[in-house]
Formats: sequence, structure tokens, C-alpha cells
Amino acid sequence: MARKVIIDCDPGIDDAVALSMALFDPRLDVVAITATAGNVSAAQSSRNVQTIIEQLDPLRYPRLGVATAPDTSPATDARYMHGEDGLGNSGYQVSRLHHQHPSEKVICDAVRADPNCITLICLGPLTNIARAFQRDPDLPSMVDRLVVMGGCVDGNGNVTPAAEFNIYQDPVSARVALRSPVTKTLVPLDVTRQVELTLDFLDELPSDETRVGRFLRQILPFIFRAYHQRLGQESIHLHDCVALAAVVEPDLFDFTELAGDVETQGELTMGATVFDRRRNPQWRPNMDVALGIDVPRVSAYFTHALTLAGNAT
Ligand code: BDR
Ligand code: CA
Repeated sequence: MARKVIIDCDPGIDDAVALSMALFDPRLDVVAITATAGNVSAAQSSRNVQTIIEQLDPLRYPRLGVATAPDTSPATDARYMHGEDGLGNSGYQVSRLHHQHPSEKVICDAVRADPNCITLICLGPLTNIARAFQRDPDLPSMVDRLVVMGGCVDGNGNVTPAAEFNIYQDPVSARVALRSPVTKTLVPLDVTRQVELTLDFLDELPSDETRVGRFLRQILPFIFRAYHQRLGQESIHLHDCVALAAVVEPDLFDFTELAGDVETQGELTMGATVFDRRRNPQWRPNMDVALGIDVPRVSAYFTHALTLAGNAT
């Protein structure tokens, strides 16, 4: 039976590719897609979720949730990596948002309707998750699993020297989510960075005769240019797609139970994930962390998932 998931995301090019994979994977039943602010503003992220659905036009439309701004405005976004519109400046327009329910309400309603059956896949800052848990304190006990793309165990951040983007954008919410009693999986930069995609990836996409092929060829060139110009790299990372792979194909990863938390204040370390890896840990393990990855097989999963999407569109 397909696994029921809600995808909470901040599209974002890698979010958009992850959605393209998830929506056509028969092993997943995407019951809702909820937008959160992160790579782009709350309004733009909400528009992008709708754009992606309209462009891909899946057989069954998931419920959509609209993002609202986080309580404390983050210092930054990631338009420099994803384009002014978050989708590689592709110029897609939506006339008006179809579904006006806030993301946290959509999450609460969907989980309550199907208790213990829903995996929350978090590909952006954890604002909506913290709000959903605050709105409905019993919710954590009804979520099957929370899978978060975020953080780093080796201490090498991407937005600051110490912090990963999704955690840094809303560290207070990240702390609420990671301290909650839900069963959690963290997919940190340590593994997502190991999957490097070169320009050959563009040649492996479904043809332009498919909706997904046309859409991805519109948005992906921007991120290749951004990696080249900003990082001097010829290859890109699609962090959120690796997190999706950890849900669909967990056997491709090695997970270690760790005790982790989030620094919410530090002058140099705000948003850093901190793990108790002492010989005699004092903190109780609270999450499974992906620390090992079978890179060739995760790359093959990407190709396979996009082939399925091509066949369906
Ligand atoms: C995360 O940050 C965002 O820019 C990406 O979409 C991904 O979710 C990687 O740190
Ligand atoms: Ca993201």
C-alpha cells in the first residue's frame, strides 16, 4: 500500500524536483503539499506550490496549504540559489491561490483524519510543523514519522559556517519540532551533499514532450549557473530529493540513533544542530540520523522516479 505523506516545502528548485518525483511515485500517496517561507517569501512559496501542481497536473490533486510568514523574520532567503521567483526565474504565473487554508491547519486536519498513518516530509524551515504542534498538542502522537531535510552533524553548515539553511531560517520552530515526541528522521547535509549532479542530469530528464521534462528544463539551468557562479562548482546538490529518497528507499541509507537539538541564539552558531556524541552521552537519543548513503543507488532512484513522472505526464 502506498505510504501517505504530507510534503511541507519552500520551493525552491530542489523542492520542485522532489515534488516532481513524489507526485508520480506509486509508493507514495501525497495527501497534501503545504508551503512554508524559506528559499522565498511565504507568498511566493505558496504561489510556487500551486504553479508546480498546475505544471505537472497529477492525476490526483493533493490538498494545498498556504504559507504565512514566520514569527521572527529570518535575515536571509535563498533567491540567489533559486532565482527571484524561487523557480529559476522561469516566469510562471498563477492567477490566484486556489486553496486559502493555512499550512498548519491543513497539516492538523490531514493528520487527524488519518491518525498514525501520515509521514510528514519537511523540505523547508519547520515553521508550519511547530505551529501545527502548538495548535493541536495531541498531534505529535498521531504523526507516523517526521522526516526532516536539515542540519549537519559534521558541523559544516551551508548558510553560515555552523548552520544549515532550513534550521537557520527558523531555529525556534526547528527546536520545537526536533524536541517533540514524534518519531523523527533527520537527513542532514552530511549525506545530501554526497550526491553531486552534473549537467548530464539534464540529458537524463524525461523528454520535452512530457510536462515534467518541460518544467524541469525551465527551472534547473538556473541552479547550475548559481552553483557555478557562487561556489565555483560544476555540479549541484538536490538536498530535498535526497530526503525524499530516504523516505521511499530507506535501505539506501545508514541511520544512527542520536540525541540532537538546535542552537537558537548563538552569535556564531544560531541554527546549528548540536548532537551529544560524547562517550557517555547525557542526552536521550531522539532521532534517527542518516549518516551513510549509497550514492549510486540514490542517483539511480532520482532517474527512476523522474522516468515514472515522465511516463505519467
Ligand atoms: C535546504 O535549503 C534550501 O535552500 C533547499 O531547498 C534545501 O531544503 C538545503 O540546506
Ligand atoms: Ca527546501
